[in-house]
Amino acid sequence: MRSEPPAVMAMTYDLSRWRDLATCEQLAVLVDLDGTLIDFAPTPDEAVLDDRAAAVLREVVAAGIQVVVVSGRPRHAIDAMRARVPGAWWVAEHGSWRWDGTDAVPPAISAPELASLERRLGSLLGVPGTLIERKTLSLCVHWRLVAAAERAGVVAALENACDEWLEEYPGYERMAGVELLEVRQRTVHKGTVVSWVRARMPGVRLLALGDDVTDEDMFAELGDEDASIGVGPRVMRVDARAADVRGAHAFLRWLVDARRGASREFPLVPLAPPAVRTGHRFLVMSNRTPAVTQGRTREVGGLVSALEPALRDADGVWLGWSGQVREHGSRVVVDDAVQPARARFDLPATVREQFYAGFCNSVLWPLFHGFPSRVRANAQDWEAYLTANERYAGHALELTRRDATLWVHDYHLLLAARSLRARGHQGRIGLFLHIPFPAYEVLSTIPWAGELVEGMLAHDLVGFQTASSAASFLAAARTVRGAVVDGWSVRHGGRTTQVGVYAATIDPAGFRTPAEDAPEVAGLRASLGSRRLILGVDRLDYSKGIPERLAAFERLLERSPDWHGRVVFLQVSVPSRAEIPDYAELREKVEALVGRINGRFGETDWVPVRYLYRSYEHRVLAQLYRLADVALVTPLRDGMNLVAKEFVVAQDPARPGVLVLSQFAGAAETLTDALVTNPFHPEGLAADLDQALRMPEGERVHRHRMLSAALEREGDARVWARRFLDDLVPRRLHAID
Ligand code: UDP
Ligand code: G6P
Repeated sequence: MRSEPPAVMAMTYDLSRWRDLATCEQLAVLVDLDGTLIDFAPTPDEAVLDDRAAAVLREVVAAGIQVVVVSGRPRHAIDAMRARVPGAWWVAEHGSWRWDGTDAVPPAISAPELASLERRLGSLLGVPGTLIERKTLSLCVHWRLVAAAERAGVVAALENACDEWLEEYPGYERMAGVELLEVRQRTVHKGTVVSWVRARMPGVRLLALGDDVTDEDMFAELGDEDASIGVGPRVMRVDARAADVRGAHAFLRWLVDARRGASREFPLVPLAPPAVRTGHRFLVMSNRTPAVTQGRTREVGGLVSALEPALRDADGVWLGWSGQVREHGSRVVVDDAVQPARARFDLPATVREQFYAGFCNSVLWPLFHGFPSRVRANAQDWEAYLTANERYAGHALELTRRDATLWVHDYHLLLAARSLRARGHQGRIGLFLHIPFPAYEVLSTIPWAGELVEGMLAHDLVGFQTASSAASFLAAARTVRGAVVDGWSVRHGGRTTQVGVYAATIDPAGFRTPAEDAPEVAGLRASLGSRRLILGVDRLDYSKGIPERLAAFERLLERSPDWHGRVVFLQVSVPSRAEIPDYAELREKVEALVGRINGRFGETDWVPVRYLYRSYEHRVLAQLYRLADVALVTPLRDGMNLVAKEFVVAQDPARPGVLVLSQFAGAAETLTDALVTNPFHPEGLAADLDQALRMPEGERVHRHRMLSAALEREGDARVWARRFLDDLVPRRLHAID
């Protein structure tokens, strides 16, 4: 391991260092194949180890250097090449298969789950130009040959489908290769090859060459005596860079000559270091950063929807977990080719599990949403929460000036500000909690309640979705020893924390434009005919009240046979946190209920409930909202619920649908002209649903007008963010203007 990796590694062009490496006693070159030794071809089968590349490798072997070709290609492809470079070692499938001059060493694990991924990808694999490559422990989809006009849509759909599958199989991860995506077992990556080579050649120094993100795993495992070379512009954090495949060959030839004592000009192109700024004056941090598809941001998740426009405007950097698990990968990588710039880092598997699935989503999420019986608390998860918060804080410090403004989001990072203060951060720090804050009686059922509340007082501003959450926090702050609550502020430990209410709003533009139907919406419209459409759109989360909603729909069909055959309930359930048992059980429960209702009431030409376990992009979602006669937004508890607001915005003002909204959603504070309902009471919910379906057009138009006016008054997501930031940073000091 490199000792204390710097945040940004400057490229080293000290020639003596390269000569020293070239002439060291034991040297191994770990070299990637596609994009490094050979150019990409339209299909993997066409990209072969050509004469030129094979000749260079043979020269390197002849110079007494151990060549290790480290490829992601399937085993059979590598097997076909091996005879061309006698003496080389070979690695296929990112480290699954290895040859060290003897027989193949097969992987110790298997990946039977990939068959279900292939089924999930289903029709997407039939899109002309997509090409599937099955490997022992991974599945790879190439999209290089997909027509340019369709590419972005196809890739987004592929990524979405993979990510939904990954929610159920957290042992796997998705990698973005060059014009391909690959889903593989997390434990399989090129980094594992480094220790394999070291075990065979004690004392060896390593030179690694690669061109894409999968090679960064290999670079991350190198030591201080080794060196990495990026080929092309894609890889970051390398010691030097070759412009392309030819540049890589030139370097290998230089290496051979240098080892033999001949002096030649050092051939690596001195590109400028990657444009990574460290002195940011504004940083947002959240559990994870929004994913990026082809330069666009995927839109699932309330936090992303609400925050992205504000951050883009302020030219800040967004820090979060990369979604990748690596035991040693703690370096932060900044991608500022996208806006807003993302800074990401990996987390070790245990931290991720105990932090994210553990303390965040098996303790704080259920507790804050008022489900104390679902809380599974243990000391290890709490420790992981502390560790993870420390890591986020440490990375934030690497990227920002001491006086930078930091905006922390949500329940995952309640204690990051405490670490930041302990390490001397002097700028303003704000926290916005996207979920409800519970009554102290509920909060104090966990032993860490006091420490959490005290930690939250390390912020200058703490914002909540609703007045009742803010009041609960102020009440909790009163219990902290030495804290003095005065109106909306709390004095504690020499700092004053301001408390405020900032109801999250949406970016309405994306939901307003009545676009032409997407194919799936056109299909739905045609299949509905004259039937009425009831719509539910939620992450599959117990806080959303999906079983209760289904029970109410069942009750409606029981008590009002006149709706039989005339109404369809479409429930879009976005896969979420499926590794947590409560979520997996919820899925089974919901699916059983759907089956029961359809079995009980369905007819050959009418399926009462259509249930989709997937997500849609905003464009499609907007059309679904507009097509619906009724939206059932009935969480048992919800910080805000942006779907309710999006539904209102998407309606045709002349023929709007009806919003049935839970009184326990934060959105109910603003959307008082919705049909406000109690989701715990199936009979009442069924009656409200019936009322919504029968509501005369005049009343629908009137309610919609009132709801639109309420949203208009609140302003969009930019207004929301600006309000928070204006309160966080007094205008004259505004660090981000
Ligand atoms: N969403 C989406 N595609 C879907 C379902 C939901 O993009 O198929 C988005 C939706 O537009 C909304 C967010 O996910 O912006 C959900 O936010 P909400 O506040 O309703 O609930 P959360 O999931 O944050 O609890
Ligand atoms: C809620 C939380 C967000 C979270 C989102 C999706 O909106 O407040 O912080 O990002 O749910 O949940 P996930 O666990 O998939 O990030």
